Amino acid sequence: MARKIVAGNWKMNKTVSEGVQLVEELKNELAKANASDVTVVVSPPYVSLTEVVKTAAGSQVEVSAQNVHQEASGAYTAEVSADMLKSAGVGYVIIGHSERREYFAENAVDIAKKIDAVIAQGLTPIYCCGEVKEERESGNQNAIVGGQIKDELFHLSDADFEKVVIAYEPVWAIGTGLTASADQAQDMHAFIRGFVADKFGKVIAKETSILYGGSCKPTNAAEIFSKPDVDGGLIGGAALNATDFVGIITAFN
Ligand code: PGA
Repeated sequence: MARKIVAGNWKMNKTVSEGVQLVEELKNELAKANASDVTVVVSPPYVSLTEVVKTAAGSQVEVSAQNVHQEASGAYTAEVSADMLKSAGVGYVIIGHSERREYFAENAVDIAKKIDAVIAQGLTPIYCCGEVKEERESGNQNAIVGGQIKDELFHLSDADFEKVVIAYEPVWAIGTGLTASADQAQDMHAFIRGFVADKFGKVIAKETSILYGGSCKPTNAAEIFSKPDVDGGLIGGAALNATDFVGIITAFN
């Protein structure tokens, strides 16, 4: 069975002290919740990582970065390497988020290299894929998502692919209040699992966590998470509030 994961992507939100406070609140709420079987991840901005790692230490909360540079070191002003993230105590890295693809022109070659850099440091990539509105409307979503996964993950060995968490995030649902229906999410997740099985085998595909992302809220998470191929969520807006985030973490049936 794939591991259940709910990861919060804070994007460009929260100062250092606000981030620490959010994690304190999250720890308190999780202590009262019944969700010890769920891996809980928060992804603060780079500047907050070390403080958030300290605050989360010894708790259920694990820490992710939102991005990484593919090179190990060098003259890449403002960039951060996987080795640096590891030294800050980070365990996960979000890679290929649609906002990185759209606003910062990240392409398949960059993303494949970032995946390699993160795995080489023993960190877990949370790899994002998903179609835009026009691609969904023209019925091309499976071809688009399959193409992304093929170009950005299929170079991996079986052993390295096993370390990857996949987040399916339809771009038209991110931050828009439009959520994919539970059936749309299930259809895509089943497609992704089958596509992964064709390349890496059924056993690995079954063990791969496939998260849904895009306007996931406490009010819709239970229905989406009840689907057999949905193993959790990558949460933006609703991860900025501890009560909402825990409402999603506890939404598994
Ligand atoms: P959202 O963002 O939950 O605010 O739609 C999800 C994401 O971008 O990961």
